[in-house]
Order: sequence, then C-alpha cells, then structure tokens
Amino acid sequence: MRMYDIIMKKRNGGELSKEEIDFFVEGYTKGTIPDYQVSALMMAVYFQKMTERETYYLTMAMAGSGDLLDLSAIQGIKVDKHSTGGVGDKTSLALTPMVAACGIPVAKMSGRGLGHTGGTIDKLESFPGFTTALTTQQFIHNVNSIGIAIMGQTADLAPADKKLYALRDVTATVDNMSLIASSIMSKKLAAGADRIVLDVKTGSGAFMKQEEDAKALAEEMVKIGKNAGRKTIAVISDMDQPLGFAVGNILEVKEAIDTLKGNGPADFVELCLTLGTQMLLAGGKASDAKKARTMLEDTITSGSALQKLSEFVAAQGGDADDVFHPERFPEAAIQREIQAPEDGYITAIVCDEVGICSLILGGGRETKESEIDLTVGIILKKKKGDYVQKGDVLAVIHANDEAKAAEASARYLNACKISGQKPVLPALIREIIS
Ligand code: URA
Repeated sequence: MRMYDIIMKKRNGGELSKEEIDFFVEGYTKGTIPDYQVSALMMAVYFQKMTERETYYLTMAMAGSGDLLDLSAIQGIKVDKHSTGGVGDKTSLALTPMVAACGIPVAKMSGRGLGHTGGTIDKLESFPGFTTALTTQQFIHNVNSIGIAIMGQTADLAPADKKLYALRDVTATVDNMSLIASSIMSKKLAAGADRIVLDVKTGSGAFMKQEEDAKALAEEMVKIGKNAGRKTIAVISDMDQPLGFAVGNILEVKEAIDTLKGNGPADFVELCLTLGTQMLLAGGKASDAKKARTMLEDTITSGSALQKLSEFVAAQGGDADDVFHPERFPEAAIQREIQAPEDGYITAIVCDEVGICSLILGGGRETKESEIDLTVGIILKKKKGDYVQKGDVLAVIHANDEAKAAEASARYLNACKISGQKPVLPALIREIIS
C-alpha cells in the first residue's frame, strides 16, 4: 500500500477502506509517513469529506493507536464530558467540581487550545504549579481519594489523534465533521469512561457554524459511542457569541471561580446546569432532571464545588488557596477599553473573531510550538441583545503589547455589530440527543 495512492483516492472523492485507514493511521503514528503527506490527506478529507463508515474506522484506528485506559479500579460509573470547542468555554473548570461534589467520579482527559478555541489544560495551567502530566496510577488514585482528576492526553493515549490534532491546528483542517467526530470519540473511547456527555457547539465561534452541521456531528458521535458500547449523550449549545464574559486563560479561571461562588454569568451557569444534569442522570446519581439540577445548584450554595476545586488544584500540584484568592493571579500590563461607536442594540459578536483577538494577544498558539500568555484576553462588558449608547464600554482588552492591543481592539470592534433593531436571541440549549 502507498500513501500517495491513498491521498489521490481521497482527493478524487473515493471511499477509503478500513485497511487504507489503518495503514495511514499506523504509519503516521510510527513516523513512517511524514507530516506533508498526512497534511495533504487531511486537506483532501476536508474538501471531499468522509462517509460514516470511514469516520468509524478512523475513530477506532486512532483509539487503538495506543493504550486503552483501564478505569475499572475506580468505583462508580465514570462519566466523561467533552466540548467540541468554543470561545470563553471554561465549562470544565466549573462543571467538573460541581459533578464531583455530587459524587460522580470525574476521570477526565482534556486538551489544549485548538485554532481560535481555548483548551482546558492551558486554562488549568493558570494555577501556578498545576500539572496535568499524571501517571495512570496517580490519576486513578486522585479520583478514588478526592473524586476528581484531569490529565492531558498522554503520549500513549490515542497518539494518532495527538499528532493529527496538532497537525490540523496549523494546516486549517480542523473544522471538518468526520475529523472532529473521530478526534473526540477516539480520545473518549481510549480514556475509558463508561458514559460520555458531549457539548456540541454551534454558531460563529464553533467549528460547526450551522446548527444542522452541529446536529449531524452530534448524531455521528452518539452513533460511534453506541457502536463502541459506551452510552453517549450530546447537548447542542449556542456558541454564536462567547460564553460568559471572559475570554483568555487566567480571565476564564477567575470567572469559573466566581461561578462556583454563586456569581456566574447566566448563560454559563445554565450550560453547566444542563450538562451537569445529563452527567448526573447518566451516572445514576439522580432519578430525574429536576432533582439533578437542585443537587448541582446546592454544590454552589453550600460551597462544596468550590471546595472540590481547591482539593483538585492541590492534588495536581497547585496551591489550594489560589481558588479562594483569585486576586493573586497575575494581570496583563495593559487594559484597554473598547467603546461603542454609536447607539443601538448589539446584534452580533462574531465569535470566532473574538477567539482570534485572543490569539493575536498571545492567548493561543499560532504554531505547534508557540508559548501562550496566560494573562491576556478580553472581558466582554456587553453581550448580544444589550442596548448601548455611543461611548459605552463594549469590552476591555487585556494585553502585554501595545501593538497587539491595538490590533485586537480594532478586530473586536469590527466583530461587534450594532443596529437600531433589537435582535431575537437564539436559545442557549438547542437540543439534547441521546
Ligand atoms: N476537539 C477535539 O478534541 N478534536 C477536534 O478535532 C476538535 C475539537
């Protein structure tokens, strides 16, 4: 078999066989097939798409490219949660301590930022000393002792996805349904959870901009989960504007902490409660959705979720007190206000543009090797549907470089649309597919 023929077959719209998919996944993982050929194949897949069968074979090949985590030493039903990626999406930071405080063992594997979207691991590393490089034994030990652990994708867990994910990130081949579905599900299957709750984003900040594409992606992943014997539930949620107010690593950590103190933005709280409800139901911790929601709300009012976050941070090398003293986090040197140029309603905040503003500021990676600046980002002061008067502050840019602050400000202003007509706001939660 030759990689050249596989690229050409896909470029011409053919359907790859299981053997061909296994061949390229194995060769790429071992390093016998180079980046440039796989880049070409990814671009061919991007334009020609993959059938359901190809997507399933790709998922299973990537899941089987390394170790399969055995979580049987953890008592209880392990429920994993994964987002398809968004802007200001700090859900895991608040939601995982909430569900852990309800007794669901959280044994979660997370990723880094991808394209214009942020990643949970980068955000968690805002806590000085925090590490997600746990051994499997430490990971299992932490879940059994405090109920929660999050680790990065180890070298031996779905290594094919790890390489492909980084390659796609820098070759503009992220937003393809089959590549996203197989990437997410290969990791989830290899990571060993019993049940999987997916947050599938739709809108201008999501990889799937159109709701019908998000729905197709959700259905695809639910089907892959079912075929692989792991019950999977997908929540389709709005990502047409940033989630909450904060975009940027440390800024989002602070917003997650505020949320666990009971001061979270309404949209963010609602998403955490909706996903948490599905996790508690899937994990058998609540008999109905109303009870699940009340249990989750109680973790905020009682402070048990905040306490759980501090235990989690301490168990992974951070300082538990940072959770109670977010003022200790460093701040960016420059804080520049962006003002409304006219009166009117905010009709759109083009969400991937806001993600790009964060990238420009240094909050995300331009190349596989880029270092990120944890302090930079954007705090939104107004959201879609708000009425503003000329001169009102729309957002505050946090930057460490004047030129980047200017570039990001101009881009944000361009992404924020104002009109005399009050917009109709789409629902945050669009559909739940199981
Ligand atoms: N998240 C993933 O894990 N993989 C993708 O391809 C996109 C989002």
